[in-house]
Formats: sequence, structure tokens, C-alpha cells
Amino acid sequence: MRDSLPYVLVLYYSRHGATRSMAEQLAAGVESCAGIEARLRTVPPVSPTCEAVDPEIPAEGAIYAELDDLRHCAGLALGSPTRFGNMAAPLKHFIDSTSALWLNGTLVDKPASAFTSTSSLHGGQETTLISMLLPLLHHGMVYAGLPYSEIELMTTTAGGTPYGASHLAGQRSDQPLADAERRLVRAQGKRLARLALALAPLREAAS
Ligand SMILES: Cc1cc2nc3c(=O)[nH]c(=O)nc-3n(C[C@H](O)[C@H](O)[C@H](O)COP(=O)(O)O)c2cc1C
Repeated sequence: MRDSLPYVLVLYYSRHGATRSMAEQLAAGVESCAGIEARLRTVPPVSPTCEAVDPEIPAEGAIYAELDDLRHCAGLALGSPTRFGNMAAPLKHFIDSTSALWLNGTLVDKPASAFTSTSSLHGGQETTLISMLLPLLHHGMVYAGLPYSEIELMTTTAGGTPYGASHLAGQRSDQPLADAERRLVRAQGKRLARLALALAPLREAAS
């Protein structure tokens, strides 16, 4: 018998806090759904010259993810700042350590989604979200974007895309989430939680 609730892993990298604030809102969306919880985890920065050895516990924010957090999740939300239209290297570095899970098909049929923050409105939100979708598909995950039944997708003047939630953080990465951005990222968390609960019995039946 399971002694703890299933969880959606909210795995993000954030240097200046914008992606982190999205992660926290997405987690709140997950936890608005009964019977499932959110697990917030981050990844350490990487050094350009050699592998940096960071303290095991980061100074602030979520603790660092371990492969077991991913192995046992019921769903995954992946968050990254946009970096040159792509996900940030620290998150990619962590994803590149997941081949054992890929070999065993551990993540097959689990739902996943992505979210991102940029400094400029047309600075590559969609391309970053798609860059994050690629490894998720290789893992056999079921990608969940944001449906247009979330009406703010049509009206937002900041972030929010059908590929996943996004945030326009401004040049200093200091703009708070706009109301529409917050509602959309929460809706994404709630949807992911519902899908995680719905897909779990299918996976169990197939195993
Ligand atoms: C190396 C680097 C590349 C970046 N590339 C882009 C970009 O392509 N488009 C954009 O709009 N912002 C870009 N930014 C800005 C960040 O995406 C933006 O500040 C983001 O909100 C930071 O998120 P964080 O507060 O979670 O760290 C870049 C920042 C850095 C450091």
C-alpha cells in the first residue's frame, strides 16, 4: 500500500527568481487538486570551465533534485529561463544524467509540461518550451501544453502560450507575474495534476 501521496515534480532552474516564482505558482495549481502534491526541486548551476561542486543544500529556494525524484514522480513540470531561445544549461545538464531512466522506460506515459521566463516578449518563449519538450518526448512522456479553454491565452498581453506557461520578466528579470500569467501557470499545474492522477491507473494496468 502507498504510504504517501503521488506527486508532480516541479523541476526548475532560476538564476534571478522569475522562473522560481512560476514554479511556486505551478505547484500551488498542483496542490489545488485533491489526492496529489507538488515536489519543488531545482538544479545547481554549472561552471563554464569544470564541474562546479556546490553545497548539497542551496542557499535559498528548493533543494537540488535527485534522480529518484524523477523516477517516482507521477508527472513532471520542467521550468527554465530562456537562454538564447533554449533551455538553460544547468537543466539540460541534469536531463543529460537521466539515461538510466530512459533505458528502463521509467517515465513512459507520465504527463509532463514546461514553463519559461524571458526578458523580452519575443525573445524565444515558444522555442524554449519546445526545446524542453524534446527530451520529454524521448522519455515517452505525454506532453500537456495549455489549451485555449484557458481564456487568458487569447487575451494575455504578457506571457502564456499553448506550448506551456511563460512569463515576461523584463530586462532586469524583476517584473512580477501578471495576473493572466499567474492564472495560466496555476491552470497548467492543476491540469498536470489531474492528468497524473488519470494516467497512473493506465500505467499500472500496463505493467
Ligand atoms: C545567457 C543568457 C541568455 C538569455 N537569453 C535570452 C533570450 O534569448 N531571450 C530573452 O528574452 N531573454 C534571455 N535572457 C534573459 C532571461 O531569460 C530572463 O532574464 C529570465 O527571466 C531569467 O529567469 P530567472 O529569473 O528565473 O533566472 C537570457 C539571459 C542569459 C543570462
